[in-house]
Amino acid sequence: DRPLVVLGIESSCDDTAAAVVASDGRVLGEAIAGQAAIHAAFGGVHPSAAAAAHAAAIESVVAEALARAGAAAGDLSAVAVTVGPGLSLCLDVGVRKARALSREAGLPLVAVHHMEAHALVARLAAAAAAADAAGGGGAGAAGAAAPGGVAFPFLCLLVSGGHNLLVLARGVGDYLQLGSTLDDALGEAYDKVARMLGLKLEPHGGAVLEALARGGDPGRYALPVPMQRHPNCDFSFAGLKTGVRLCIERELPPEGHPDREQIAADIAASFQSVAVTHLCQRVRRGIGWARDALAAQDSAGSDSSSSGGGSDAGGSSSGNSSNSSNSSSSSNGRGGDCSGSGRDGSGALRQLVVAGGVASNAVVRQRLGELAAEAGLELVVPPPRWCTDNGVMVAWAGIERMRLGLFEPALPPLQLEPGQ
Ligand code: KG4
Ligand code: ZN
Repeated sequence: DRPLVVLGIESSCDDTAAAVVASDGRVLGEAIAGQAAIHAAFGGVHPSAAAAAHAAAIESVVAEALARAGAAAGDLSAVAVTVGPGLSLCLDVGVRKARALSREAGLPLVAVHHMEAHALVARLAAAAAAADAAGGGGAGAAGAAAPGGVAFPFLCLLVSGGHNLLVLARGVGDYLQLGSTLDDALGEAYDKVARMLGLKLEPHGGAVLEALARGGDPGRYALPVPMQRHPNCDFSFAGLKTGVRLCIERELPPEGHPDREQIAADIAASFQSVAVTHLCQRVRRGIGWARDALAAQDSAGSDSSSSGGGSDAGGSSSGNSSNSSNSSSSSNGRGGDCSGSGRDGSGALRQLVVAGGVASNAVVRQRLGELAAEAGLELVVPPPRWCTDNGVMVAWAGIERMRLGLFEPALPPLQLEPGQ
């Protein structure tokens, strides 16, 4: 059977992006128009400026992705588009383009959730590697592929400028949210601290701050690790940000002072270290919660007793009262050793996926990699250009949904009957 070939369109925030991807994992063509320069003056994404920029770019971005794929709209199996969450003025631009294509070329339309696209693109890296091995050699098939593929269920940490979510991905369209942020997302906190330190914000405040922190001492300033008294999987960065602001006011000498550069680097490194400690604490607990949830699901699905207790090294092992198992078994199941007979461990947690712009941070990867290894999980991080917003992730999520029949039939051409 011929692979599906899907065009994905993304316009939820400040990138207009499109890509053509085949269901065997080949990325046939990609295009993206960023808006960083437009929003730099506002100090954040300005919705109507963003919508105008999307409107100006959408036709050429889609045309470019199709041209690079050597495809015409009529060659496609479907068009997928991000329908939310995001800025509605911006989403509209992509949705309108997708509807027009669906109508003109008779293509099925796949509605894609932005966060699902971020999560599922990790599965593309594995498919792309397989296509490469088979000699498919898609244009964008290279990347940090997951050796064994990414299979459900997996734990997924999404960390970007707008989102900070921890979810148990149980299947396409089936996510258990374990935690989210009470205030800022980590990328936003990176951007704000970068601004407080007077750094350049391009290409991203986070990347510039990471580079500065490389020369700093992460132990120099003791900043508060967030939410120590909240044994759950939620995140918060507002208090840490305030801590950094006070530290800067107290410690950072004025421009021109010989120690300024080093002190700024030490503050950056101290902030980063505590922020990543916070991520690690929440993810460690989330691994326990996820295992509890899976064990509860297993025992609900069969009458045999479950051995998989959550291993919450973060302290409390009571888990999330609303969605974790109540198992009082003290058997200390670790490392995905769910012994559900005959299920070949298919219900066990094996992978931690980290996605979103902050996933390109080396310290984040390193420390979450160590944590994953301790917990018997494989860490999977998509290549950086698939971590930040892009069209490939939308096209891929579209393919995953199409395979399950989760799409709308082609929109009919408008039937305008003449009035009398
Ligand atoms: O996923 P993304 O492109 O956009 C959103 O959907 O929000 O993520 C952008 C965010 C920005 O806040 C940026 O500062 C952060 O990701 N970021 C980083 C790094 N590269 C980008 N944060 C920390 N370290 C990095 N290397
Ligand atoms: Zn995003």
